[in-house]
Amino acid sequence: MRKINTILCKFTNKNWFRYYSGEYRIFHFPGISKAKEENNGVETVMSKIQLPSSKACVVLTEKIDEPSKKSRTPTKNVANTILKEPQECTVEKVENMPEKVKCLRPVPRLKPVTKLPAEYNPKPPEIPAIKLRDGYMMPMFGLGTWGSAPEKVEAAVKHAIKVGYRMFDCAHVYENEKAVGKAINKSIEECLVKRKNLFITSKLWNTYHHPDLVLEGCRRTLDDLNLSYLNLYLIHWPMGYKAGNELIPYDACGRVLTTRVDYVETWKAMEKLVESGYTRSIGVSNFNKNQIERIWKVAKIRPVVNQVECHPYLTQQRLMAFLKEKGIVLVAYSPLGAPARPWVKSEDPPVLEDNLIKTIAFSHGRTPAQICIRYQIQRGNVVIPKSVTPSRIESNFDVASFELTGQEMKMLDNLDRKLRLVALESVSNHPHYPFHDAF
Ligand SMILES: NC(=O)c1ccc[n+]([C@@H]2O[C@H](COP(=O)([O-])OP(=O)(O)OC[C@H]3O[C@@H](n4cnc5c(N)ncnc54)[C@H](OP(=O)(O)O)[C@@H]3O)[C@@H](O)[C@H]2O)c1
Repeated sequence: MRKINTILCKFTNKNWFRYYSGEYRIFHFPGISKAKEENNGVETVMSKIQLPSSKACVVLTEKIDEPSKKSRTPTKNVANTILKEPQECTVEKVENMPEKVKCLRPVPRLKPVTKLPAEYNPKPPEIPAIKLRDGYMMPMFGLGTWGSAPEKVEAAVKHAIKVGYRMFDCAHVYENEKAVGKAINKSIEECLVKRKNLFITSKLWNTYHHPDLVLEGCRRTLDDLNLSYLNLYLIHWPMGYKAGNELIPYDACGRVLTTRVDYVETWKAMEKLVESGYTRSIGVSNFNKNQIERIWKVAKIRPVVNQVECHPYLTQQRLMAFLKEKGIVLVAYSPLGAPARPWVKSEDPPVLEDNLIKTIAFSHGRTPAQICIRYQIQRGNVVIPKSVTPSRIESNFDVASFELTGQEMKMLDNLDRKLRLVALESVSNHPHYPFHDAF
């Protein structure tokens, strides 16, 4: 019995299991190698063993009947086998971890690991930052807050700050900015973080598009967050809605009441927010190429980011290339495929369940979510996964200490199926609806 040789089989390298708030993951690869008879007497098994520090780890081992026999499993075959059937078979809580952890398959003479390997680093390195076109630095990774109930988001943001998150993506329409603000201010009071080290983004909602309402929209957010300035303020969508107290105003027939305010006029009012210090940077969200070009021509202050849906099923390659040319950063929202979106249909393919993503995850000893997040960072995009679950907040953050290969990045690019999950189809007849254009 020996650990799989990394030269022989890089793909099935030893995978250290990571601990996130007491959760550990067990992967099982049925048929990781050929049957013993077909494979020169070599059989691959996977086992879970307990480390003395009570951390769990998984070691892939090869079982060799005759010790002298060398495995001749070709790397290519193993990789092909993995591509078929990766499964994360268990997620368990480790509250009372038993003394002896049961192996997935009995492994004779398995020796306990006595020392953590040098590469095992429970403290993740810091998240990289990107320079915006106006000179400010923006962390490439932050916490999304859409759909986070106010009673949960306060704890989530506080936990995230403790874990190391420094960027938070907020919006008036998420109806939780007061709770997010409470967590931020408490964390500052408790000296967990300084305001100057945080990067807070929020967004002007569609009912505030009229230039006379832009300042009010921004002030409302600043009051709710209880902050004196934002780092980044975005026009949430190019389409304006009828102003008023209703976030989504409807007519008697259930149609959204919109306005024809030109977002270029809204943009000019956004520029004033920078000049008066309410926000440091301004940008847009859900804008297409032509809409950005229109702003670009007249802007005194040009948009620094465009926040758009982006994940392996909607890779946004053409929009990304256009934004890069302009020096605008793409902020990837719904990077995990927004699995909890209210309008999800049973036939929609879940991004996190994709076989290739799971395979790549296994080969790095990571979760599919970590692969989706790392994918965006390596493309040079900022990424903002949302979670209110402590273990996920931790694991999603732990993405700086591994790297996807060029080949893996290409394979992920090829998963693109132009699947838009946040389409706001109810206003697709609005003249500024952004998704009729190719990009
Ligand atoms: N500008 C825009 O128009 C716009 C539109 C959409 C989103 N956004 C922003 O982008 C952020 C992220 O997008 P999103 O919220 O749509 O979707 P997402 O980040 O792709 O997915 C969030 C969902 O995935 C779950 N999740 C988180 N980590 C996970 C993990 N490691 N494994 C499995 N599931 C996991 C979360 O559940 P739990 O919370 O229960 O853990 C949540 O239900 C939003 O929160 C918002 O800030 C902006």
